[in-house]
Amino acid sequence: MEKLAIHGGVPVRSPDQPWPRWPVWDEQERSALLQVLESGKWNYGERVHTFEAAFATFQKADRCVTATSGTTALETCLLALGIGPGDEIIVPPYTFMATASVVLRVGATPVFADVEAETFCLDPVAAADAVTPRTRALLPVHFGGLMADMDALRDLAARHDLFIVEDACHAWGTIWRDGTGAGAVGDCGCFSFQMSKNITAGEGGAIVSNNPDLAERCRSYTNCGRGAGTGWYQHFLMGSNLRMTEFQAAVLSAQLTRLPEQVAVREKNAARLNEWLGEVPGLYPTPRGDELLRRSYHLYCIRIEPEEFGCSRQAFIRAAAAEGVSFSPGYPVPLYRQPMFVERPAPPDYRSVSCPNTEKLCAVSAMWLPHYLLLAEERDMADIAEICRKVQRHAGEIGD
Ligand SMILES: Cc1ncc(COP(=O)(O)O)c(C=O)c1O
Repeated sequence: MEKLAIHGGVPVRSPDQPWPRWPVWDEQERSALLQVLESGKWNYGERVHTFEAAFATFQKADRCVTATSGTTALETCLLALGIGPGDEIIVPPYTFMATASVVLRVGATPVFADVEAETFCLDPVAAADAVTPRTRALLPVHFGGLMADMDALRDLAARHDLFIVEDACHAWGTIWRDGTGAGAVGDCGCFSFQMSKNITAGEGGAIVSNNPDLAERCRSYTNCGRGAGTGWYQHFLMGSNLRMTEFQAAVLSAQLTRLPEQVAVREKNAARLNEWLGEVPGLYPTPRGDELLRRSYHLYCIRIEPEEFGCSRQAFIRAAAAEGVSFSPGYPVPLYRQPMFVERPAPPDYRSVSCPNTEKLCAVSAMWLPHYLLLAEERDMADIAEICRKVQRHAGEIGD
């Protein structure tokens, strides 16, 4: 009789079936790094600009300006748009801290608006409710690589004369329905190349924009406030040094050669999972996003409805891990519950913020699989599906 692995049964996957590892690298990265080393030219030069041009092309954007991280890229965009004290920026609370901390860092106020339960992305209706006369920008996150509803957010921005800064730190390769890449659909957008990301140099970031003046201001902020074509000792803006090194650009250029193929493999495997897991009672994969011409997956996100599935999220995760796949429960609390917000002198009083969809995702239902699992074979996706089905068949036996 079939038994769960946590109860001594045979797991769906044996330990000698490893999942793909991350990062992926080979001789290309090794020789590119050696070339930089031996060139003696290690800082911000030709390789950085070559990577910027290639990334802009890949991301279907006119301009790309690199930075030291996704965080500093976001902060740069806000500064370049002239956002500061007295301004409010609407952000989702289901995100990494940087989406909101950068708003505080430029002296403005993050205003939290809930996400949609189905997509984990900023809900345009909640965003509209959060608009006040002080609102200057929307900062949607394309969570896991799925884009927020940019048609609705662009309408909202147009009605209230707001900027849109896209946190596209999970969305390298995602393309909106009109052929514009994530990041360039709004005024500007930011990407992360940190270690866990789908294209990485350990750390790094980038801004894309179709607005040449804005891109130029971003460039200046990242390059000590210098102007285009002006002297090295001429500083026009209160910029910083957020420049990428040639080592990072060399690694990223090598990584970029693999990215289109990896995006395609992940998309194909995610489609299989959507089909199979969508048939398991109580499991709800986030949609692919039919409006997207291409969908990148940084995270494969899914919800569990415990009543329907038959056990809690933590019980599911424990049982699934024993069968051979590790789901993450994701963010444990909404971002506005962090001490950074709760302990801030009011106003606003972040202790009174409540975003029910985000609260439920954090406490009860959200689960993530990392992008590199989607680089495995279709038979490995079939194993994930079988693990979910098996745990569901025995959900009543697991306890909490
Ligand atoms: C949604 C989101 N925004 C911003 C960032 C910040 O990127 P970085 O770690 O490169 O500063 C991250 C990083 O994980 C992220 O997940």
